[in-house]
Amino acid sequence: MHKSFEEFVLNEYKSSSSEIGSFLFDEKKYWLKKARPTKSSLSHKIYYKLFKLELITPVEEKSAIQALEFECTKLEEFKKLNIPVPNVVFKNSDFFVLEDSGKNINSYIRKKDATQEIIDFYVSKAIDAICFIHNNNQYHGGAQARNLTFKDEKVYSIDLEDSFDSSIDLKTLQFRDFLLFLLSLTKIRAKVEVNYIEFIDKYIENTKNYDFKNRLQKLASKFYLLIKLSKVKFIRKFLGNDVILFFKLFEILYNLKENDK
Ligand SMILES: Nc1ncnc2c1ncn2[C@@H]1O[C@H](COP(=O)(O)OP(=O)(O)O)[C@@H](O)[C@H]1O
Ligand SMILES: [Mg+2]
Repeated sequence: MHKSFEEFVLNEYKSSSSEIGSFLFDEKKYWLKKARPTKSSLSHKIYYKLFKLELITPVEEKSAIQALEFECTKLEEFKKLNIPVPNVVFKNSDFFVLEDSGKNINSYIRKKDATQEIIDFYVSKAIDAICFIHNNNQYHGGAQARNLTFKDEKVYSIDLEDSFDSSIDLKTLQFRDFLLFLLSLTKIRAKVEVNYIEFIDKYIENTKNYDFKNRLQKLASKFYLLIKLSKVKFIRKFLGNDVILFFKLFEILYNLKENDK
């Protein structure tokens, strides 16, 4: 490690007030992420017990240093498996520094003027990346579009800090990943059709997680009443666009057929 780089990042850490931020050094871009604890709130845990929704599986409580260690170790593990991740170039007990791995996928697809082609391109690439992680018997833990970045034709995984109780099996964590990703697509604001069924089929074909369709359908059926209510004109008036898109996705999931191709 170049001494002046170390001095630079230590100074950057002290002078920045945000938990994560980018900086330039020698014309190269980096991200500094400060250690902070991970936990789910009590109400979150209660909802989970009540509804048994994979979507809200509580994250394991970790201290700031444990969370930092976990994320850096996972970045190294992914790298060994050839899963694209940014290099960790500096780490101490307060923060770590990553190389820049491009703009996040959400920033490409959330634009009001994003075309169908652009959306299909990035979503499809992101699904390939999630499939690759899952086919390596891993999970991302926060697979929303904002935690996947695109650089040099590759999709990188970032924000790997969340872990879960060991009683939760890998398939459930992978299901949660996929669901979080699908839900993050409800942020798309452009007037385009999101080809959910195609994307779901692509994921299932590539991972052979054939039961996920059934799991998605079962999950959506828990929201049946809300899905129906969200279609009532009078109620719609009070719902934000992302809520409407959320229920639109859930209606598609509800109507998924085992043999949908
Ligand atoms: N190595 C990186 N390359 C490019 N962008 C990054 C990188 N690390 C973080 N970011 C950007 O910062 C945002 C927040 O970082 P993230 O690790 O997801 O922290 P948080 O846990 O706060 O969500 C990401 O959504 C992404 O836009
Ligand atoms: Mg994030």
